[in-house]
Amino acid sequence: MRRKLVAGNWKMHGSLAENEALLSGILAGMADVKAGVAVCVPFPYLAQAQAKLTGSAIAWGAQNMSQQAKGAFTGEVSASMLKDFSCTYVLVGHSERRAIYGESDELVAEKFAAAQAAGLTPILCVGETLSEREGGVTEAVVARQLDAVIAKCGVASLAKAVVAYEPVWAIGTGVTASPEQAQAVHAFIRTKVRGLDAGVADGLIIQYGGSMKANNAVELLGQPDIDGGLIGGAALNAEEFLAICRAG
Ligand code: 13P
Repeated sequence: MRRKLVAGNWKMHGSLAENEALLSGILAGMADVKAGVAVCVPFPYLAQAQAKLTGSAIAWGAQNMSQQAKGAFTGEVSASMLKDFSCTYVLVGHSERRAIYGESDELVAEKFAAAQAAGLTPILCVGETLSEREGGVTEAVVARQLDAVIAKCGVASLAKAVVAYEPVWAIGTGVTASPEQAQAVHAFIRTKVRGLDAGVADGLIIQYGGSMKANNAVELLGQPDIDGGLIGGAALNAEEFLAICRAG
């Protein structure tokens, strides 16, 4: 049995005061949560997350990192810096990074490799846009995004990674993929990986992300190949986030 993993992606939200209240609220409700729980916070708040969450059941991580180990890369943050703050996870290839900051499949694969080299667990985000779905190329897009990582790092690398399927059209829109739509792509991902390594496929955590809320989490997380959630907006409210965690 794969243990479910629910991760909050705070995106560019929060403040010291807001984070303190949010994390306190989540910590206070963790007793009956069986799923693994993590929060991916903005870089400046990693120290706060570390101080607040060390010794708790909640892991923390970042939302992006450089593919470079160190050097003259103004404004960038390396994997070893994230390790300094005891991050467990780092998102790579979130659709907002791909779309707004032009991150290519190859760059995402480099970031994935650099994360693992530093001992971080990358959460590799994949997913199609609305026009790609309507054009019938959802599976081709997701396969291409996965293949870039498999080509660079090998399928065995997925044993120490998480995949998040996030249809772009469902992110921040309030339009959730139906459980059947999401399950179909999750099954596609697992079957694709199974074709290369059955053991890796069976253990692979595949999260769903895109307008997952307390009121749709039970159904989504009830699908056989949906192993957790990557939560945006609903992760900014402790009770809402906890309700999703409890559904896992
Ligand atoms: P929303 O939950 O706000 O749709 O965001 C999903 C997401 O992008 C998580 O990475």
